[in-house]
Amino acid sequence: MTEKTDRMIDQPIIVVRDVWKTYRTGQVEFTALKGIDLDIAAGEFTAIMGPSGSGKSTLMNILGCLDRKDRGTYTLNGTSITDMTPNELAQIRNREIGFVFQSFNLLPKLNLLENVELPMIYADINRRERNERAHEALQMVGLIPWAKHRPNEISGGQKQRAAIARAVVLHPALLLADEPTGNLDSQSAGEVMKVFTHLNQAGSTIVLITHEPEIAAYASRTVTFRDGRIIFDTSGLNAPCQEGA
Ligand SMILES: Nc1ncnc2c1ncn2[C@@H]1O[C@H](COP(=O)(O)OP(=O)(O)O)[C@@H](O)[C@H]1O
Ligand SMILES: [Mg+2]
Repeated sequence: MTEKTDRMIDQPIIVVRDVWKTYRTGQVEFTALKGIDLDIAAGEFTAIMGPSGSGKSTLMNILGCLDRKDRGTYTLNGTSITDMTPNELAQIRNREIGFVFQSFNLLPKLNLLENVELPMIYADINRRERNERAHEALQMVGLIPWAKHRPNEISGGQKQRAAIARAVVLHPALLLADEPTGNLDSQSAGEVMKVFTHLNQAGSTIVLITHEPEIAAYASRTVTFRDGRIIFDTSGLNAPCQEGA
């Protein structure tokens, strides 16, 4: 049994040490992560940048307990995410992590309120509380007038704000977003980033992947990847790698 320790000030919520990941397809091997070390403090808003194929999504999938590393250690909110069963990983994922994806991933047959209620159904929260909390989350992202509409009736920016409401409705310790503005025009992207900023000011820890410097500028820290390594970190915690190292 893994026990969650109380979150402490200055205690990193994410501790990643020497994490490696190799994909194997047939005879072909590709090492996507080559010894990642990363600490993220509770309440930090971190942008992850770097060229396509540099390993950003691979790391995010490991942080989100969606995929396994080959080597190294990962501690999330005081819990060591090593040697866990798929079932234990699913529990951690549901309890500790909110996800936001480029493609929104809303269920098309459910209205926004029902989409936001979904994680609470899996968490066995009763109907009345689900309804209340889903309304609060939609209020926070400015979508109350659209609560009874389905995703195909709203804009991309509204879909992403609904997806954020769904991601945070269970108050996860960590909010992960993989290119959340990648499908949005710049005005909608700005509105989505305002929501992330608001959540961060209210205490959420956010890790957000982006290609765009204007989007990374909303974060308080930028970590840059290249070829499976961290080559720059504005916090100064990761010394730049030497070429060829
Ligand atoms: N499931 C997979 N199977 C095989 N190779 C993969 C898989 N996922 C990612 N890769 C490879 O790993 C590298 C890093 O991918 P990724 O982490 O998605 O990069 P980024 O998010 O920075 O664009 C890429 O070269 C990609 O082709
Ligand atoms: Mg990616």
